[in-house]
Amino acid sequence: MNSPETFFGGAPEALAAAPGRVNLLGEHTDYNDGFMLPVATPQQTEVALARSIDDQHHLYSDTLDGNVTFAAKGGSAPQGFGSYIEGCIRLVEAMGVAIPPLRFYVTTNLAVGSGLSSSAALEVATLRALRQLLGFELDDVKLAQIAQRAEIDYARVNCGIMDQMASSLCDERNMLFIDARTLEHRLVGLPPESELIVVDSGVPRTLAASKYNERRAECEEASRKLGVRALRDVSDPEAVETLPDPLRRRARHVVQENLRVLEAAQGVSAERFGELMNASHDSLRDDYEVSIPELDRLVDALRAAPGVLGARLTGAGFGGATVALCRAGSAREAAHAALSTYNKAGGQGSILIPVSTQRKEQQ
Ligand code: GLA
Repeated sequence: MNSPETFFGGAPEALAAAPGRVNLLGEHTDYNDGFMLPVATPQQTEVALARSIDDQHHLYSDTLDGNVTFAAKGGSAPQGFGSYIEGCIRLVEAMGVAIPPLRFYVTTNLAVGSGLSSSAALEVATLRALRQLLGFELDDVKLAQIAQRAEIDYARVNCGIMDQMASSLCDERNMLFIDARTLEHRLVGLPPESELIVVDSGVPRTLAASKYNERRAECEEASRKLGVRALRDVSDPEAVETLPDPLRRRARHVVQENLRVLEAAQGVSAERFGELMNASHDSLRDDYEVSIPELDRLVDALRAAPGVLGARLTGAGFGGATVALCRAGSAREAAHAALSTYNKAGGQGSILIPVSTQRKEQQ
């Protein structure tokens, strides 16, 4: 364990933070040019920066995987947290900004692998810290786009734009309505008198990458067959019913999920929002087939907890976290009740929101 003082030999020259995200509605819609409604997590990643005295970039994180060093000119980081930072550096250089050799100190309390997009938080915090240190122009939407590029080209994850837009533009009290085609966005208040619960299933998302790419390909094929640019452009929801299976069910999910987001973004009651979340999970489970039995069990346990209005998996699926909306004041009790049911049946879950005084609550 290296303290920032030891690592920098004094104070850093720049310090920036960025949150993860919990998506409340609009899952697997971003790469279909659709709509979504994430919120930022209270958990954040922090990146501190200072110039290095040699010709190398030095990266350190005690919570990720330790030390990484690579040549500032032409070097590259091994796969791991370093590749996200390398991507940010190289893409900013490609904008014409000269980046001197730097020292990066990364800390985070975002659980890696739980589906709260710790990677987007790392990219956005890195870009913010670089912008602060070097003073170049980069608005928050462009920043999100560069962060997404870093993830695709350097970390080799073929993601959409949702996570980086949420990390760059969202806060904890508001959802961010995003149109993934135009990148139009606006903050929308959480439903009245409601609170969020996020519980991690404890199941690592091992299948997520291959299945994610498979779903993307299925959606592209479905839009080709329907003669539209992207599934967002399907104007008659009945049109998808003419497709062969499984394209029919994949497209049905995307089309219905977009309609759910558009309804919710107009401002609906907490009860209605909960119903839309339930419908979203059922569709992800039955039509999009990205759930797993553990996520279904946890979602059922959340739905049965006192005060819960709706629950669903959040993020790409195949493990990771679930999110629930509940009546204001009931989050802590409901989260504990659901976790206890889930863990008694052999689960390894933990509560991520509401944030406890300890880092993670285990039961
Ligand atoms: C991952 C991706 C996002 C989005 C979600 C599914 O989190 O990074 O771009 O596609 O899956 O909604």
